[in-house]
Amino acid sequence: MKDLLRTEHLSRADVELILSTAAEFAEKPLRSNSALANKTVAIYMTKPSTRTRLASETAVVHLGGTPIFIRGDDLQLGRGETISDTAKIISGYASALIVRTFAQSDVDELGANSSIPVINALTDVDHPTQLLADWLTIRENFGKDITGRKFVYLGDGNNMSHAWLIMGAIMGAHVVAATPGGKWAPDPIVVEVAKNIAAQNGGKVELSNDPEAAAQDASVLYTDVWMSMGDSESDRSEKTRSLSPFAVSEQLMKLTTKDSIFMHCLPAHRGEEVSASVIDGPRSVVWREAYHRRTTIQAILYHLVRGDLEGSTR
Ligand code: CP
Ligand code: NVA
Repeated sequence: MKDLLRTEHLSRADVELILSTAAEFAEKPLRSNSALANKTVAIYMTKPSTRTRLASETAVVHLGGTPIFIRGDDLQLGRGETISDTAKIISGYASALIVRTFAQSDVDELGANSSIPVINALTDVDHPTQLLADWLTIRENFGKDITGRKFVYLGDGNNMSHAWLIMGAIMGAHVVAATPGGKWAPDPIVVEVAKNIAAQNGGKVELSNDPEAAAQDASVLYTDVWMSMGDSESDRSEKTRSLSPFAVSEQLMKLTTKDSIFMHCLPAHRGEEVSASVIDGPRSVVWREAYHRRTTIQAILYHLVRGDLEGSTR
């Protein structure tokens, strides 16, 4: 596998390899500090980022390389140069390209036209690097044996809900996306893909419109912002109304298992998708989860540049 363009492209073995390397990078950030010696990694983002940008730049430095950050409107892309030409040019200078943008098809096109690894750092429909950090955090809390455990995402049926279902399916987990029906539900095509992966891996993918039923006996409650980057402001009040029953509150946490954890990709809006007492409370693992954005991106870069990942045959 040359690129990490979509969560569904990862095999279970790829995820295991990335997680074990990331765990080593968590202990010893500089253990492979010449892997990218004298190399550069381009990081191109047309949406804001706190974690992914800093995690990516830090990861490159820890591997001995130099990050080159490129903001959305810096490139000639905005003035009509094609994605394909841009991909060929960046391939001549950098050893990898990390990209955050709106359309998944733009990331796919960058991958198809680059000779270097391209890593999806979030699109409107997916967020693979986030899910690797999430699963390393889940591992640290529950170990490898997740039999009988339920992993629940609550809120908007957005990019995070998609990646949650697909990665859960790859891991053979029982994953649930509890969202309103209709407009804010996950994309049915993505749900179908997740169900097919789950069928091969012994996982279970479920949708729910009932936050209490979903939270009952869950090991993880996960949520995300209600207004994603690029969402239309004109949807805000309708969206807030539809999503408020899915907010993660103390009452919802009470329905979960004794050892349950709260997760959030961040940024968070206290008083909207999660109450302050939950995200700042004893079950929240959000800071460790955010820390693992660096360890996992470092592992992804390390393995992709070496050509270690097999990719999925799906
Ligand atoms: N979770 C996440 O991707 O955060 P940033 O938008 O800050 O990168
Ligand atoms: N769904 C959010 C995730 C942010 C990390 C967004 O796309 O803005």
